[in-house]
Amino acid sequence: ENGVSDKRYILALDQGTTSSRAILFDESAVAVGVAQLPFQQHYPQPGHVEHDAVEIWQTQRDAMHQCLQNAGVRPDQVAAVGITNQRETTVIWDSATGEPIAPAIVWQCRRTAERCDELVQGGWGDKIRSKTGLVVDAYFSATKAEWMLNQSPELRQRAMRGELLFGTIDSWLLFQLSGKRLHMTDVTNASRTMLFNIHTLDWDDELLELFGIPRAMMPEVRPSSLVYGLTDPGVFGAEVALAGIAGDQQAALFGQGCFQPGMAKNTYGTGCFLLMNTGSKPTASTHGLLTTIGWQIGEEVTYALEGSVFIAGAGVQWLRDELGLIKDAAETEALAYSVPDANGVYLVPAFTGLGAPYWDPYARGTIWGLTRGTNRAHLARACLEAIAYQTRDVLEAMEIDSGMEVQRLLVDGGAVQNKFLMEFQADLLRLDVVRPEQFESTARGAAFLAGLAVGFWPGLDVLTELIGTAATVFTARMSDARRQELYKGWKQAAQLSQGWLIKK
Ligand code: G3P
Repeated sequence: ENGVSDKRYILALDQGTTSSRAILFDESAVAVGVAQLPFQQHYPQPGHVEHDAVEIWQTQRDAMHQCLQNAGVRPDQVAAVGITNQRETTVIWDSATGEPIAPAIVWQCRRTAERCDELVQGGWGDKIRSKTGLVVDAYFSATKAEWMLNQSPELRQRAMRGELLFGTIDSWLLFQLSGKRLHMTDVTNASRTMLFNIHTLDWDDELLELFGIPRAMMPEVRPSSLVYGLTDPGVFGAEVALAGIAGDQQAALFGQGCFQPGMAKNTYGTGCFLLMNTGSKPTASTHGLLTTIGWQIGEEVTYALEGSVFIAGAGVQWLRDELGLIKDAAETEALAYSVPDANGVYLVPAFTGLGAPYWDPYARGTIWGLTRGTNRAHLARACLEAIAYQTRDVLEAMEIDSGMEVQRLLVDGGAVQNKFLMEFQADLLRLDVVRPEQFESTARGAAFLAGLAVGFWPGLDVLTELIGTAATVFTARMSDARRQELYKGWKQAAQLSQGWLIKK
């Protein structure tokens, strides 16, 4: 015995909107190591949001090494690496040097809202929706990439020659991790670009042309669980399979074990993303939801319906960082409990417009119902309640669109530790809200996809077993009359926050 361990692990890289994380999972899908590095947010103008793609890569690389070091695990003990990421955020880089040509345009950025209006006025709405499953909105990558290439005619020429590459964050990380060799993405990330046909599973030539995006710059689209290639030993410390990719919300759906149609999860992070597995055929939405790809394993594609809420936890951060009303996000729980209700106050956090089901890029934040007696506890409570109200908005739309009734809502993400929020959510939905004991669902989903590809885990049945059933269940207790009254007030407040900037 030389004491060198040969235990094997799966490493998940979770590149989110505000931090880069790495989480190491053992064979029982238990997280045995974690590292997290925040990075800078840039707001060059109101409504504009940028990231430095180089900083994203550096923090992700450092988090990856720190995570292994913390766990005392060598790079060659990693059986496979899975990538999950903030979606839609757009990077264009030089294929030879790997240098980004400009700051990454973040999913929250509204700079192309007017271009989207133009597309809708030009009659593109239905066509884009039927091809891509998406609502025309600045949220998605297409108009972001178009905007970047429009900065100079030379850029488009270079893109045509394949000298510039397009990618969402997964592709950007894969390129760097592979030592600048791989230029690929998976179907889930592709389905968020507004350039991808979710029926044919290929980039759509008509849309590429519409946005002036040469096919030569697009990554190859692959399934979500597959050996895409190997890590560069110079970067990773060993040659290891890069074997799973999924956008973070799809990864959470997978990591929560929502393998059957009708199963749904809601992730409470920066935003709130409610996704439902709708099976092997895409379900079109008529109520402001998105049709998206949940994952692809082998030939088999699983579709999902999604309600994307742009601001959830970020509202609480705003109370903390911009208003200075609290020192710590966790304080909101005690504050919310300290008052019997929000005293008629509604806070609509439409800071970057409203996503599903409203889709109004011109909506702006509104606090409604202030009186002389309104105090900070009421505001904190209203801020948490807004998260639950927005979730109800999308869940209702989802039940109508899918024709399926959600039996219980699985939840994950940082804010699910807030007991007040969970109780209020159950009350407002009149549903059981189920919080699994292990709520690293996003990273776990990426690890599962990577682990399946290399045979670390044999199949979905085993994954279901590993996920287990240990959970805290929050049950509704509010009267129907109260629930209706509160929700009615929210609908009014949401209405008031809309259309602000349109009449300049
Ligand atoms: O669509 C945006 C979403 O993927 C961002 O997720 O967790 O990084 O805020 P998160």
